[in-house]
Amino acid sequence: MSTQPPSISERLLSGLAATAPQHDRDAAPAIEAHGLVKHFGDIHAVNGIDLRVRPGQIFGFLGQNGSGKSTTVRMLTTLLRPTSGSARVAGHDIYADDREIRRSIGVALQDAGLDILQTGRELLRLQSRLYNIPRDQIESRVAELLDVVDLTEDADRRIGGYSGGMQRRLDLASALVHSPSIIFLDEPTTGLDPVSRQAVWDYVQHLNRVDGVTFFLTTQYLDEADLLCDEIAILDAGEIVQQGTPDELKATVSNDVIYVQVEGDELIQQRAVNALIQLPNVEDASWDFNEGVAVYTKNGHETLARVVRSLDDESLPFSNLRLARATLDDVFFRATGHRIEPGDPTQSGPPGGSG
Ligand SMILES: Nc1ncnc2c1ncn2[C@@H]1O[C@H](COP(=O)(O)OP(=O)(O)O)[C@@H](O)[C@H]1O
Ligand SMILES: [Mg+2]
Repeated sequence: MSTQPPSISERLLSGLAATAPQHDRDAAPAIEAHGLVKHFGDIHAVNGIDLRVRPGQIFGFLGQNGSGKSTTVRMLTTLLRPTSGSARVAGHDIYADDREIRRSIGVALQDAGLDILQTGRELLRLQSRLYNIPRDQIESRVAELLDVVDLTEDADRRIGGYSGGMQRRLDLASALVHSPSIIFLDEPTTGLDPVSRQAVWDYVQHLNRVDGVTFFLTTQYLDEADLLCDEIAILDAGEIVQQGTPDELKATVSNDVIYVQVEGDELIQQRAVNALIQLPNVEDASWDFNEGVAVYTKNGHETLARVVRSLDDESLPFSNLRLARATLDDVFFRATGHRIEPGDPTQSGPPGGSG
């Protein structure tokens, strides 16, 4: 038990918690979708998605650029009409009850389109008026939110002068104005420096734990999904190809991976893979340009020595032998057949382009 008084943010957040509805694990799903589809002409952006997000969860949508993350978020937040399928958010139907849904949710879209001439404080005031916060409460509410995202000192500077991290934090604050019980964050940390990413993660975890806010967040970052999310859906080409808790997903691949750099051309690599895949307890072995030869096994330490012996027996020179736990990267690779390479989402190819 700490005798430290709670920080300002903690007090604010617990204040928010008192006014927000409490979330029950057995309650109706916060978000539910069945067979959600969105086609833009020939482009099948989202191809039949089924989802169930429990209240209080942080649910992650993990996929590379163009996999359909933003399209899904825009459908669930009633900003885009699906081609087919159904969904309910906060118990409301996305087709019939869009006004109720918008009252229950906060949204920080990828292309927030902040007005760079406004100050942070002005933006939050405007947002508060849009959400009908009583006039006499707006100034205190705005001050609270600025404090929550550590922007008090910069509140009266123009947004145009904010760093990317500050703009994301302002986005997050503006999604919190009306104390929503469900918050959608579309790639909240893409392009942020490590310190700003950590700050966003801290706010998300804090709001989730203290306040019970449900999050639906999209990301291209495996580490982010692993760290933040209670449940992850891997999205590839508009379809969910795998879903589970981070641990469940990792359990689908072997526990350990041994990486080793074998010297030589692709034929040599293939020889190494062929030799190593036959070792006892080895479930798979593969080669890729970045990582070298990867050997998947349930028993890394034992296998390590065998790998060394086997490569020696084959007279294959090697270096950089290391043992690692299987990560979500490996899960993603197994599920999609390719590695995720985060890119700038604003640079995704034009609709109808090559691909
Ligand atoms: N308004 C649109 N018109 C045509 N194609 C679109 C539109 N919005 C998205 N797309 C296409 O749909 C696919 C999925 O896009 P998106 O949902 O933005 O993916 P992500 O957010 O995962 O990067 C991409 O091929 C994209 O080019
Ligand atoms: Mg996107």
